[in-house]
Amino acid sequence: MAEIHVRDLHKNYRVHVKPAGLGASVKSLFHRTYKEVQAVDGISFEIEPGEMVGFLGPNGAGKTTTLKMLSGLIYPSSGSVSVMGFVPWQRKNEYRRQFALLMGQKNQLWWDLPANESFRLHKEIYHIEDDLFKRVHGELTELLEVENLLDQPVRELSLGERMKMELIAALLHSPRVLFLDEPTIGLDVVAQTNIRHCLQQYNQERQVTILLTSHYMRDIEALCDRVLVIDHGRLVHDGLLRDITERFATHKLLQLRFQNGRMPERPEEFGEVTDLTPPRLTLRVPREQVPQCVSHLLDCYDVDDIAIEDPSIENVISALFRQTAEQASDDVVVAETMNG
Ligand SMILES: Nc1ncnc2c1ncn2[C@@H]1O[C@H](COP(=O)(O)OP(=O)(O)OP(=O)(O)O)[C@@H](O)[C@H]1O
Ligand SMILES: [Mg+2]
Repeated sequence: MAEIHVRDLHKNYRVHVKPAGLGASVKSLFHRTYKEVQAVDGISFEIEPGEMVGFLGPNGAGKTTTLKMLSGLIYPSSGSVSVMGFVPWQRKNEYRRQFALLMGQKNQLWWDLPANESFRLHKEIYHIEDDLFKRVHGELTELLEVENLLDQPVRELSLGERMKMELIAALLHSPRVLFLDEPTIGLDVVAQTNIRHCLQQYNQERQVTILLTSHYMRDIEALCDRVLVIDHGRLVHDGLLRDITERFATHKLLQLRFQNGRMPERPEEFGEVTDLTPPRLTLRVPREQVPQCVSHLLDCYDVDDIAIEDPSIENVISALFRQTAEQASDDVVVAETMNG
């Protein structure tokens, strides 16, 4: 039985359209015009217990809106959701005790209180037993190395320190399902790695189910095998991150260093030259031609260093979005042709 079921979920926001010009503005005070924004436009997926799934998409794609519906903060326009058997927007207390939502862009801790005070309040709100609280609190503060910051008002903490406290607050009641909306936004590399490590450990030890958004592909690569990719409110991919890489990473980068500076005279015959700084050469080569290209180069030249790299995951994902955008504009052309 899947932990999270989402069926044909929609969310439309009604937004006020401001007309241009003073006369029109005055008129709009009495006659407001609205347009509908389809923030989430019919998505369906399932997540099994213990899975850690990445939720990717460009700005405005509908990720936060989806997570808010899964957490019961907002009602959907239509569609159904079940998380651990609960309908989130019914806001049952039993549901609240078993999931957590962490939003990297939002403060959830009391600004003027030390984190420890907030944690104690959480303990009361969620009826966490003394022993459990002590154990989880101890483990998390140690893992995230914040033991010496617990009694400082949250407003005095750095962004990264605050985010660690937010994460602890989200995990204190041992939720079975975690929604994380950009938990590492704005953090330095060390703090990001820390948080990532904590999530990984937490997921492995407790088999919690995690749905995570991040614009940092390192997070997704490190944590998630499976990704949901959303664009303009629609799912454009649900599957292994590896599959996207294979489908859209059509080329590899070949970095070579030649001994004695003797280099190919016409390197472009081997692939697209992206850098040429003797004795180094970087080529972009179609995936299927890599083996043949490498053996040819090694046969004919003295190569003393070689590296074969995949393009960055950022490039791969933007290739995916470009393709869906092109498909969408093709659809428009088809529709126009049919109408005209
Ligand atoms: N409260 C709201 N009222 C009206 N429109 C909204 C509201 N919240 C979001 N939207 C719109 O819905 C769409 C989806 O927004 P959402 O915040 O879900 O995107 P996102 O995928 O989380 O983007 P980002 O990566 O920038 O965080 C956007 O077009 C946004 O402008
Ligand atoms: Mg968002």
